[in-house]
Amino acid sequence: MTPRTYAIRTFGCQMNEHDSERIAGLLEADGLVPALGPDDADVVVLNTCCIRENADNKLYGTLGRLKTAKEQRPGLEIIVSGCLAQNDREELQRRAGHVDVILGTHNVHRAVDLLHQARESGPIMEIWDEALEEAESFPSALAVRREVGHAAWVSIQIGCDNTCTYCIVPSVRGRELSRPFGELVAEVQRLAADGVHEITLLGQNVNSYGRDLTLQRRQDADHDADHGADALIAGAQWAADPARRVRPLFADLLAAVSAVEGIERVRFTSPHPKDLRPETIAAMADNAAVCNHLHLPLQSGSDAILTAMHRGYTAERYLEKLAAARAGIEDLAVSTDIIVGFPGETDADFERTLEVAAEAEFDLAFTFIFSPRDGTVAATYTDRFLDPDLVGRRYSRLHTVTERSALAKHRARIGRIEEVVVEGVSKRNESMLASRTRQNKLLHFASAAPLRPGTRASVLVTDAGAHYLTGELVEVLAAPRHRTRIPVTAG
Ligand code: 5AD
Ligand code: SF4
Repeated sequence: MTPRTYAIRTFGCQMNEHDSERIAGLLEADGLVPALGPDDADVVVLNTCCIRENADNKLYGTLGRLKTAKEQRPGLEIIVSGCLAQNDREELQRRAGHVDVILGTHNVHRAVDLLHQARESGPIMEIWDEALEEAESFPSALAVRREVGHAAWVSIQIGCDNTCTYCIVPSVRGRELSRPFGELVAEVQRLAADGVHEITLLGQNVNSYGRDLTLQRRQDADHDADHGADALIAGAQWAADPARRVRPLFADLLAAVSAVEGIERVRFTSPHPKDLRPETIAAMADNAAVCNHLHLPLQSGSDAILTAMHRGYTAERYLEKLAAARAGIEDLAVSTDIIVGFPGETDADFERTLEVAAEAEFDLAFTFIFSPRDGTVAATYTDRFLDPDLVGRRYSRLHTVTERSALAKHRARIGRIEEVVVEGVSKRNESMLASRTRQNKLLHFASAAPLRPGTRASVLVTDAGAHYLTGELVEVLAAPRHRTRIPVTAG
């Protein structure tokens, strides 16, 4: 019998991409195989995002097209998961009666069970308000189908306990839960044994990793004088270390995963500037595997707006932290997120953002126009909403500033030899390979021999744009260690 096929379309962040890998893992365990293209799939999964407006519009557009497809192919099954499902359940149900399964962010592991249930008894929506405490809440904890063999995401924490007034994440991803230290190290050891040499630690605020572990430990200690709590919460590996701190810090986790044999690159996203501790900077500097790239979201350069955003730092404090990171970590690349047009942003506020962005000399900036998200505090500041044309003009001025510094940073790499990991064929030019430097920059280069994704090489940088480098292969350093995935085709 021809196996049924699936396709997953992911909107939004790396967290969502990681959840998608897990849904793929569950579907494959159920006997499905990847479809050749989204139009042939028997099961289509839309893993959604609601952080900004255009994400919802795109989703409803895609759902409209799928409705027509389902009328022509009644066997087509549709699953909608992720943040928008969590947040917009009624709207989604109203606008998408043709969806078979709607599931939220806390029950991704139920995707296949719900699909079976829907086959028996019709469309189903299951959204949990909170995550389970158990490992199943963590996308890394279950079988995943990774797209690449040499690199993996590891979610160290889910949810967010911060209260940034523009942000919908706390209400769709719930409260902050850290995964036990020992479990994470064991996971990285398993990945390394599987040939993975690059990991990216994921969390909404990686620097507060472990904060909830301590809280829980205190509560448990009140109940129970037996101090087995350390092992229970942080994991045996942590409890066994006589020199341990009260709770594992993110810095300890960085050191521990960097020490795993076979792990050559450790990345993470994202730390919150208010919580960026000297220990983290030291761990980045001292552990050779940790890549010299920091994503440090600025959001605004104006103190008044930062206060209104509830960010917990001033522009000056941000710049001090950045300077400390640059002083401590050799050859550090820094990227950021900035929001333009937050309610009440004056010309003077915006000028400060331009100044701080110029002073920070970012390698890369993701710039966003403020989008009111229902349920957030800032969405209620309607009397201070700004004229979209004004915001558009500000946005393009900021873009000019951040592109200028990105270009300068990239040009400064010309003439250097970079250690890269090959990602695959370049999308810009099929005769070139795309690779990543340790600073997380995209570097295109030509190679006479086809190099597999995961190959490490050194490359001389010969040219630069604002978002990429180009270069010439100097030498291949190492072939990938993972087994090449045999492409699975339908039929
Ligand atoms: N409007 C615009 N940008 C937003 N972001 C988060 N919420 C909003 C919003 N309501 C941006 C922030 C965050 C990034 C992931 O998305 O800059 O760091
Ligand atoms: Fe949103 Fe702020 Fe939490 Fe980041 S730290 S997820 S911006 S609330």
